[in-house]
Amino acid sequence: MVGWFSKTIVAMTVRMPKWFVRWVSRRYVAGPSLDDAVRIMKRLSSEGACFTIDVLGEEISNMDEAQYFFDEYMRVLDAIHQHGFDANLSIKPTAFGLLIDPTRGMDNIRTLVAKANEHDMFVRLDMEDHRVTTDTIDVVKALHGEGLTNVGTVLQGRLHRTLADIDALETDLGPHADYRICKGIYLEPEAIAYTGRQDIIDGTNACVDRMLAAGAYVAVASHDLPVINHAKSALTSHGMGPNIEDPRPNAGPPRHQKGPGYEFQMLLGVRGPLRRKLLAEGHRTRVYIPYGEKWYEYSIRRLKENPTIGSHVAKAFLMPWTNRP
Ligand code: FDA
Repeated sequence: MVGWFSKTIVAMTVRMPKWFVRWVSRRYVAGPSLDDAVRIMKRLSSEGACFTIDVLGEEISNMDEAQYFFDEYMRVLDAIHQHGFDANLSIKPTAFGLLIDPTRGMDNIRTLVAKANEHDMFVRLDMEDHRVTTDTIDVVKALHGEGLTNVGTVLQGRLHRTLADIDALETDLGPHADYRICKGIYLEPEAIAYTGRQDIIDGTNACVDRMLAAGAYVAVASHDLPVINHAKSALTSHGMGPNIEDPRPNAGPPRHQKGPGYEFQMLLGVRGPLRRKLLAEGHRTRVYIPYGEKWYEYSIRRLKENPTIGSHVAKAFLMPWTNRP
């Protein structure tokens, strides 16, 4: 249930002038241009972090807009390669045209993933709302079928279907399955998703367990201690941890620029001290860095999609000690 506080924050923020929204969002969004993302990567590299880059955008309405994302991600890829950053790409399949023209959308994604593969770089398909869950998974399956195994999907712990998806993908992708597991940002209907806080945590933790048992690479994307701590003890029970070669008999091959079977991931600007603590413990920790001209539309949409973010943001400003960048 979304509280009145969160709803009030969202209602207030969407009425605020653009400069104010930019001021609030600057800790969560690198800036409008690729140079801004490069600047942040340079700064955080010195902490030992690695990265995934997201070009911000809205749902597209024609294939010209898909071309923009394709071209921009090609530039990101070149920039990562040139600077030698420990970084990969996070893309939204719908931004490449998957819902408008599935064949061309798939061609765009395939070309990008193939180019990334030449640089031994990984591409993560962000998971959007339930309309495209199956399509997104199918893209990954199709590309693996073509020999492009440097691509993986995100799965959402709040969806009832996710454990079954993990089982099916274990069969389809074998040892090359590589997931980001998160709670899921979209407030999905009760018929298909858990809606209570504890149920979502339990659902997410069950997915972490199932993925680890399946030998998959597991990127745990959460800032929530009940998820992070659960993941840490699950890793221990598999004999996994920092600087230990993945001991699972069914584990996939070691991945270039990846952790020993797992990593943690967090969003730029959220719970920096917790991220640095994980890093200090030796865990591979990746920062998700969004940038793009559409930062305003993105910020407002995120708030509307999930108003609880409003309360996180407000808390970060009113009680900065709860969420230092
Ligand atoms: P929770 O929301 O309970 O947050 C725990 C604490 O972290 C909060 O109490 C607050 O202090 C802090 N916090 C969390 N979010 C904050 C914010 N925005 N601002 C300020 N403080 C915040 N979802 C999805 O559907 N598809 C996807 O592809 C992805 N990809 C993705 C990548 C990465 C790297 C991360 C970390 C997350 C995603 N998500 C996502 C979002 C994810 O599903 C989820 O909505 C958020 O991570 C929030 O859930 P937490 O597990 O962090 O817990």
